[in-house]
Amino acid sequence: MEPSSPLAPRNRGHYPPRPKLEFRVSDARSAPTTPRRTPRKRRDIRERMERAVLDHWELLDDEDIAIFTIRRPDGSDFATFEAGQYTMLAFWDQPTDDPRPRQLSIGSAPLDLSYLEFYVILVRDAHEDGSNVPGVFTGTLWRHKPGDEILYMPRPAGRFTLSRTSQPDAICVATGTGLAPFVSMARVAWQEYQETGQVDRRLTIVHGVSYADQLGYKDELERMAADPGFGLVYIPTVSRPDSDPNFGEGMGRGRANDTVRLICGKEMSGRVEPWLPDEPLAALTERLTPEGSAVYLCGNPDMISDAKGVLVEQGFETEGRESQVITEDYW
Ligand SMILES: Cc1cc2nc3c(=O)[nH]c(=O)nc-3n(C[C@H](O)[C@H](O)[C@H](O)COP(=O)(O)OP(=O)(O)OC[C@H]3O[C@@H](n4cnc5c(N)ncnc54)[C@H](O)[C@@H]3O)c2cc1C
Ligand SMILES: NC(=O)c1ccc[n+]([C@@H]2O[C@H](COP(=O)([O-])OP(=O)(O)OC[C@H]3O[C@@H](n4cnc5c(N)ncnc54)[C@H](OP(=O)(O)O)[C@@H]3O)[C@@H](O)[C@H]2O)c1
Repeated sequence: MEPSSPLAPRNRGHYPPRPKLEFRVSDARSAPTTPRRTPRKRRDIRERMERAVLDHWELLDDEDIAIFTIRRPDGSDFATFEAGQYTMLAFWDQPTDDPRPRQLSIGSAPLDLSYLEFYVILVRDAHEDGSNVPGVFTGTLWRHKPGDEILYMPRPAGRFTLSRTSQPDAICVATGTGLAPFVSMARVAWQEYQETGQVDRRLTIVHGVSYADQLGYKDELERMAADPGFGLVYIPTVSRPDSDPNFGEGMGRGRANDTVRLICGKEMSGRVEPWLPDEPLAALTERLTPEGSAVYLCGNPDMISDAKGVLVEQGFETEGRESQVITEDYW
């Protein structure tokens, strides 16, 4: 599938109109897929990376968010990994002033290693003059197409994994594309459940986004949550519901960290009063306890520090080997 929307200004109706983007490099879509080996600085980490091919590419209704896969050129498997880990990706033609690869959580499960899946947002840095510049890596990614070369670091890394904790409930809280590691975890658990009928850890996934059309993986997670034996509780929550024509039934209101605040009886920190439908409210209230749960926080660093502060006050251990609050800041 080709990327259907290049980096054009557009107005989704609920964001202010987006000004024209400025590019730091010429349009790579028309560039040959062979690497442009412009003079490189010494110790360019991309020298140590391996070549893969961009394969499937899919945009959400919010076209600034994509789910894409990569494959190895010879079709062989990637190295195995643990759900929750990330790898690093880069392009030879990303702007020459910043050749560093970027970390991306792996959204696929290590059950099929013939591909890796990622969930990514096009970063737009707003400038004072109203223009906005796409992120170095994501701006380059959005100008590529399936079949193009992408570089990956062969060894996945990171300790944002369920094996870090042992509490029966894992409460997973994400903003935006911070959902990716939890998709991988849910897929692994789902496969195990299909094979054995058993569930090792009960998962609760809170996904906080500004608008409902940013709720990637909603259908898949709802399908898993519909099986009561699996025990997954999926809680999508929208932080700008009053200006969102797609806000609808089954969704919570408010920011992800305010959902945590709601359960813990704390004042909200954002602009929208948090609210959850009855069933997820009851489930999260029952599950989010220092006695029975570990909490995984991923995405926006301010969401993470706020939620962590609330959890400390509730008696959650947040430091050292016994920590039951595990975090992954995306920036
Ligand atoms: C362990 C780890 C895993 C990550 N996994 C993912 C992932 O699965 N999906 C993903 O979209 N990003 C992920 N990121 C962020 C990713 O590494 C890049 O920072 C992001 O893609 C932007 O890169 P860029 O070169 O386009 O932006 P840059 O030109 O480097 O601009 C970076 C700026 O954009 C902002 N920013 C960075 N990431 C985000 C984001 N995700 N959402 C909003 N603003 C952001 C910050 O203000 C940051 O200072 C992860 C980061 C870490 C540390
Ligand atoms: N107008 C635009 O062009 C526009 C708008 C949005 C995003 N973007 C681009 O998209 C990128 C990422 O957007 P994103 O929506 O995935 O990520 P995000 O800005 O982190 O938003 C995801 C969720 O996190 C919440 N959030 C934001 N700041 C927070 C904070 N300080 N504390 C707690 N929660 C917070 C948001 O709530 P709120 O809804 O209350 O902010 C939303 O629910 C941005 O960096 C930008 O480049 C562009």
